Amino acid sequence: MAKRPFKRILVTGATGFLGRHVVPALHEATGAQVIGVNRLDYDLLKPGAAEAMLRDIRPDAVVHLAAKVGGIVANRKYPADFFYENIVINTHTFHACYEFGVKKFLTFIGGCSYPAKAPSPIREEYMWDGYPQPESAPYSVAKKMMLVQSESYRRQYGFNSVVLIPGNVYGEYDNFNLEYAHVIPALIRRFIEARDQGLPSVRCLGSGRPTRDFVYAGDVAELTGWFLLHYDSSEPVNISTGTRTSIRELAETIRRLTGFSGEIEWDTSAPDGQMDKIFSVERLHSLGLKCSTTLEDGLRKTIAWFEQARKEGTARL
Ligand SMILES: NC(=O)c1ccc[n+]([C@@H]2O[C@H](COP(=O)([O-])OP(=O)(O)OC[C@H]3O[C@@H](n4cnc5c(N)ncnc54)[C@H](OP(=O)(O)O)[C@@H]3O)[C@@H](O)[C@H]2O)c1
Repeated sequence: MAKRPFKRILVTGATGFLGRHVVPALHEATGAQVIGVNRLDYDLLKPGAAEAMLRDIRPDAVVHLAAKVGGIVANRKYPADFFYENIVINTHTFHACYEFGVKKFLTFIGGCSYPAKAPSPIREEYMWDGYPQPESAPYSVAKKMMLVQSESYRRQYGFNSVVLIPGNVYGEYDNFNLEYAHVIPALIRRFIEARDQGLPSVRCLGSGRPTRDFVYAGDVAELTGWFLLHYDSSEPVNISTGTRTSIRELAETIRRLTGFSGEIEWDTSAPDGQMDKIFSVERLHSLGLKCSTTLEDGLRKTIAWFEQARKEGTARL
């Protein structure tokens, strides 16, 4: 391995969906000792918890994934919690890492932080051109404050931090609880349950016409190691495929891969949301990087994992 600048990397939120992909990938990419923690170890909402975590673990790099995360149902129901928990966790953890003298800090924000009216493909420089989708704004605005934090701590203190923007991530270990699930785990669960119960149809909300850009979690995790080792800038980078997939195409693919033989009923009385949301991958490609897992391959892996985890009782339901 050419470059080994870190001995010990701390990952917050390590037991979450992305954390489970990122921890082994970081070890593979950096050769460093990687220590993962979750809320039971250190509740980062509590004053002093971030400082205690850093004193105990003494990392030279931190990959910060701890967050309150959820799909649209949860965002609608708990907007204050999404704002408060994310802004507090991030503000404290980031500052504590600077004070402790961590050499590098890397974190993720979501593509929902972009303005609701940003034209696709959405380039990183569109970030401040308007207000995000109001329903998830408490989460996404709290998260995007880390862009401001990254730039200002670099300018004032020379603190080296990186903020990446993964697209719509899916994969093994995702959250399949229907209140918290994003679209892919929600559809996988509903098709599999309908198949097992022999139901004639599955109802999907909207027309199915909106398009989205999905990225496999294993690809995001692999690139995280590269960014930790080689990228020293507060300019964010989209981590996605840049590929357009309609929700209808997605649902048809999941139906086929889960072996559900019934119909899909589109409830066109439900709102469609943003019609087209695709991320520009120009900056990612200019660094010589890309997310290469196809949607079909990634869905196969995710469905196989979910079927097994459901039997073992380890899926988040
Ligand atoms: N999922 C996506 O599509 C997506 C897309 C873009 C960006 N992101 C970002 O990627 C990161 C990881 O997301 P994810 O999907 O992996 O989330 P997740 O599965 O919900 O995992 C969240 C993690 O954060 C920890 N956590 C939550 N509250 C905490 C607290 N008060 N103190 C300490 N730890 C706490 C959880 O620990 P416990 O398990 O102990 O509660 C868990 O390990 C987040 O920053 C998210 O914003 C996710």
